[in-house]
Amino acid sequence: MEDMIKNSYNQVISPAMALWNQRITLEKNKEHLLKLIDAVGCQNDLAAYQWAQLLAITLDFKPDLILELGRLSGNSTCMFTEAANLLEAQNCSVISLCLTDDFQKKTLPKVLRVVSEEWLKPLQALKCDILFFNYEKALKDYNRILVFWDAHGYEVAECVLGKILPLIADRPHLVIMHDLSDARYSSGKEYGGKQLWKRNHYPEGSRMRLGHIDSAVEQAVAIVDFASRNEIALESADHSQQTYFSGNPDKLAEMKQLLGKEFFSLSAHWFWFTLNERPGPYTFPKFVPPVEIHRTFLQRFRKAIGILLGRDTF
Ligand SMILES: C[S@@+](CC[C@H](N)C(=O)[O-])C[C@H]1O[C@@H](n2cnc3c(N)ncnc32)[C@H](O)[C@@H]1O
Repeated sequence: MEDMIKNSYNQVISPAMALWNQRITLEKNKEHLLKLIDAVGCQNDLAAYQWAQLLAITLDFKPDLILELGRLSGNSTCMFTEAANLLEAQNCSVISLCLTDDFQKKTLPKVLRVVSEEWLKPLQALKCDILFFNYEKALKDYNRILVFWDAHGYEVAECVLGKILPLIADRPHLVIMHDLSDARYSSGKEYGGKQLWKRNHYPEGSRMRLGHIDSAVEQAVAIVDFASRNEIALESADHSQQTYFSGNPDKLAEMKQLLGKEFFSLSAHWFWFTLNERPGPYTFPKFVPPVEIHRTFLQRFRKAIGILLGRDTF
């Protein structure tokens, strides 16, 4: 059976049950969603069945804020904006952070052929660096936060774990991580002639296996470390769906029939976690924005030069 977590807010989080609960909404919106997916035109970044899974868990979780980290062409941006529109009663907002403005320049004109300007109201798509964003200010008025972590690298991981999580730990929250597959349901355990994984060189580069996680992105290392220290579970949507639907063949048949192959799959390739699983205290890594690292380096450099020149300050 699927391990369903009843967290400290007495809430069960289950990607499989969310899909089941939201199946009628998904089926009703399928044509519209497929038009959106087509307008974004980048299914390599997020497959149609992942749109359905992530939409379902968002509708089930009912956040009043979705914080999207990494937008690029905007698959998840559109999917979460659709969710925010469907979550009208929650007055849900979407804050989307990305270094690029591909979404605004390339995707938005195509998306506006499918949706109205009104549809975009919940969305703030900001072109900025995740590492320098003012999270204290942006998150302070929200009560229930879903974080979609789809920007990679150790710096972003340190920012998520050391800056964002301490701010939301005492509120209901859910963190969804893309690009982590469940090794129990994936092929590819062989090295296949490749070197050890050292950093992300997606898609051709090496992958790593850490317990159940199969991934090419740095955050897989950071999150295993974080979850181990905080004694929280890292759950995969793959495991949730595989176990729930294999135990419910009638539900499986209904899902396949309602949503079809493109929109329903037992594969997911995303993990999730929440600190709400247990009461604190928790432990967080220190996050130092790069500008401060540079400033500290500069201060030390100036001090060293000062010493060399025999002066207190330089
Ligand atoms: C995998 S893509 C996001 C795909 C998107 N979520 C989707 O569903 O189509 C990752 C994005 O994160 C952005 N990114 C990486 N590091 C970042 C940072 N420090 N600040 C802002 N964006 C960053 C990259 O520029 C890239 O556009």
